Amino acid sequence: MKKVLYIKANPKSNEVSNTFKISEALVEKYKKDGHEVVELDLYKENLRHLDGEVLGKLFSGEDNEVTKYVNDVTNYDEYIIAAPMWNLSIPSILKTYIDHIMVAGKTFAYTENGPVGLLKGKKVVHVTTRGGFYSEGAGAAYEMGDRYLRTIYGFMGVTDFETVTLEGTNVLSPEDINANLSKLIVSL
Ligand SMILES: Cc1cc2nc3c(=O)[nH]c(=O)nc-3n(C[C@H](O)[C@H](O)[C@H](O)COP(=O)(O)O)c2cc1C
Repeated sequence: MKKVLYIKANPKSNEVSNTFKISEALVEKYKKDGHEVVELDLYKENLRHLDGEVLGKLFSGEDNEVTKYVNDVTNYDEYIIAAPMWNLSIPSILKTYIDHIMVAGKTFAYTENGPVGLLKGKKVVHVTTRGGFYSEGAGAAYEMGDRYLRTIYGFMGVTDFETVTLEGTNVLSPEDINANLSKLIVSL
């Protein structure tokens, strides 16, 4: 049995969000397979940007309201991150969450040989949907969300990174989107 943190980064409801339609189906499958899934809906959290006060508290480790995310993140074997493409990247609330877990000595460490990730042996599944097409061709150079997550989690030591993507949600017909969505969900 795996312990999984399900990180949700979209203000839309499960019924409306294409990203959540996929991630919820994946989470259902995990639960059916006996894995424990803990939900972290970032829009229900009181996540503050790293202003002067939060920075001080995060790095001194003195305030549990601020350090709870980084202290919690090591408790899981796997992270499911559900986040649509926003402005070629990720919703800023997810970037703020990552700023909260990027703490030297906890998720990575500086050593004589350079930085090393401390989230070793863990896995990320990034579930995302995009209005346009970025998986291949000319659009690929513009895709900075999945690339950022891969890089930053890699920095934290996660080498097992899987991406589940549905594209063209602002371009294709509702019929085609639903057909692609159903096909993807069946393949999970
Ligand atoms: C604020 C915002 C920014 C977006 N930026 C992009 C973008 O840069 N490129 C793109 O292809 N789609 C963009 N989209 C469209 C979404 O990625 C697309 O509709 C996605 O499927 C939404 O997922 P959801 O239904 O889970 O919210 C954006 C949507 C929003 C709301």
